[in-house]
Amino acid sequence: MKLLRGTFGTRFGFYMAAVGSAIGLGTLWRFPYVTGNNGGGAFVLLYVFFVTAIGLPVLISELMLGRMTRRNIIGVMSWRSWVGAKRRWRWWGYLSLILSFVVLSYYTVVSGWVIHFTVQSLKGGFVASSPQSEKIIDDLMSRGYLQWLLASVHMVITVGIVIRGVQGGVEKTSRIFMPILFLLMLFLCIHSLFLPGAGEAMRFLFYPNFSKLSPTAVIEALGHALFTLSLGFGAMIAFGSYLKKEVPLPAEAAFVMALDTIASLLGGILIFPVVFSSGVVFDSGPSLLFKTMPILFGSMKGGYILGFLFFVSLYFAALSATLVLFEGLVAFFIDQLKFSRKHAAFVVAGGVLGLAMVSAFSHSLLKAIKFGERGIIELLDQVIINWSIPIVTLGVVLFIAKKVPEDEKRAQFVDAQDYVSQRMYITWQNSIQYVVPFLIVSIFLVQIGIKILSVIRN
Ligand code: PHE
Repeated sequence: MKLLRGTFGTRFGFYMAAVGSAIGLGTLWRFPYVTGNNGGGAFVLLYVFFVTAIGLPVLISELMLGRMTRRNIIGVMSWRSWVGAKRRWRWWGYLSLILSFVVLSYYTVVSGWVIHFTVQSLKGGFVASSPQSEKIIDDLMSRGYLQWLLASVHMVITVGIVIRGVQGGVEKTSRIFMPILFLLMLFLCIHSLFLPGAGEAMRFLFYPNFSKLSPTAVIEALGHALFTLSLGFGAMIAFGSYLKKEVPLPAEAAFVMALDTIASLLGGILIFPVVFSSGVVFDSGPSLLFKTMPILFGSMKGGYILGFLFFVSLYFAALSATLVLFEGLVAFFIDQLKFSRKHAAFVVAGGVLGLAMVSAFSHSLLKAIKFGERGIIELLDQVIINWSIPIVTLGVVLFIAKKVPEDEKRAQFVDAQDYVSQRMYITWQNSIQYVVPFLIVSIFLVQIGIKILSVIRN
């Protein structure tokens, strides 16, 4: 098993890497689209609730496990002094690897869409009127081979970076692009808020109307809250392993959570005024971001420059998240199966691109395959994110609650000089022991109940 070496030189370095992995397509592409699909305000409220009630304690847990063992998720779950000779906990780790692989397959396709839009922004293809601007994504959706080609470009870039071991360089680059993306979003939000549909958009986003919630909204909010914080993949365990001993975990985790949540909400504030001003339908699904942003840029003076900057920064956000998922898989092949780094990277990329075909062709060749209203890409996205991530998360919290000795956890969490941190420790412990498992299991049961009822009714 590979020992994860080194620690982050500065706290800033850790923040940027952890926040960089958290803020990705999930934040800017997925959050607006699932919010639109699930009726707006009430969904946003649920999401914020889950980020705080489940995301934060789990984020602390993952960082803690990583810092204690300095190993990856499988190494953590077979840590001898905690589990002895029994190694069945490590199956949760394998599940998280399968998750990374499947998510990567469509994350890669959507990253390809971002590459396409970066090029389109340069070609001046963005115009203010909705049917024309929407055409760019609709065209792309119908051309499966182009999507797959773009996904391959993204994989070539990823493999190039991973086999040269220059992720550090990319991290540094995304350190530049992350603040750019943030500032750009702030600026664009102001612009959006002056659009005629802004009032309606803010009502849609922030006024919780529970009657508009879809039956799957609760589980979707849970899955998304975990996904956007990069939980359930062992990613934050890897980041924790780089964290220095002295750094207070709860504060660190809270900071990552806050930035990621702010970025998501900014994404919503940016996109929905365009939706309500232009006639794009709010439940457009995965193409929502790509339908709205071109309209916004098309309506602004110099919009193509901003459009280009936006999509380049978004691409870096997608790339840094891809690298984290990809590296987790590569490390597994190197450590467990003794592959060379190059060999491992090629095998992972080949597998990802193979599976990516399913998503890339889901609106063309495979269009006929529908599950209710959903195409394959939506189905993959929902099954993986809504069901599998919470299952791995449940494994992680049960593991930390049952297997990790009390004194070790306390030593990681509590700052002896700080009374507040002792109180917080008790709250955290209660939440991973009772609140998080209870919430996850009951949401699963309710969801299964709803499904059974709907089958019976039909
Ligand atoms: N949190 C990332 C996003 O919002 C996705 C991700 C998951 C990245 C797991 C790395 C690891 O896009």
